[in-house]
Amino acid sequence: MPTAHNRIHVMHGVNLDQIARRDPAHYGGMTFLQLEQAIDAYADELGMDARFFQTNHEGEFVEELHRVADLADGLVLNAGAWSHYSRAIGDALQIAGVPAVEVHLSDVMAREQWRHVSVLADACIATFGGKGVEGYRDAFVAIRQSLRP
Ligand code: DQA
Repeated sequence: MPTAHNRIHVMHGVNLDQIARRDPAHYGGMTFLQLEQAIDAYADELGMDARFFQTNHEGEFVEELHRVADLADGLVLNAGAWSHYSRAIGDALQIAGVPAVEVHLSDVMAREQWRHVSVLADACIATFGGKGVEGYRDAFVAIRQSLRP
């Protein structure tokens, strides 16, 4: 049940809708629908009200971030490859102004060098990676703690 403090926007960026077709060693072989259902189950368990958004278009992602303050109390985002270079999304995250947590399904620090950098991390209260879908549970817990009066 949505209350003033538990609405969490879960935003997925470029290529996340295709995870079933990506390397199962990194993405676990699940479908995007299964991923969202698993995240939603974690949200329910923790008493959070999760809403979902995904796009492959950077400008749409930015515009959703512009709306987020009206839609949600907190933000969990996996921006995919944009995480590593999109200063535009980093700026939009600052504009969003709600507590945000960055999640990566795979262990980006154990992959190619270019994935080691996040240009979004500075605008987030925490980053979780390498734990698959469980990273989203950690993200909800971190946001819940930051929203607690
Ligand atoms: C990802 C990691 C990124 O490096 C990659 O570009 C993705 C997914 C992850 O969830 O592990 O698309 O964000």
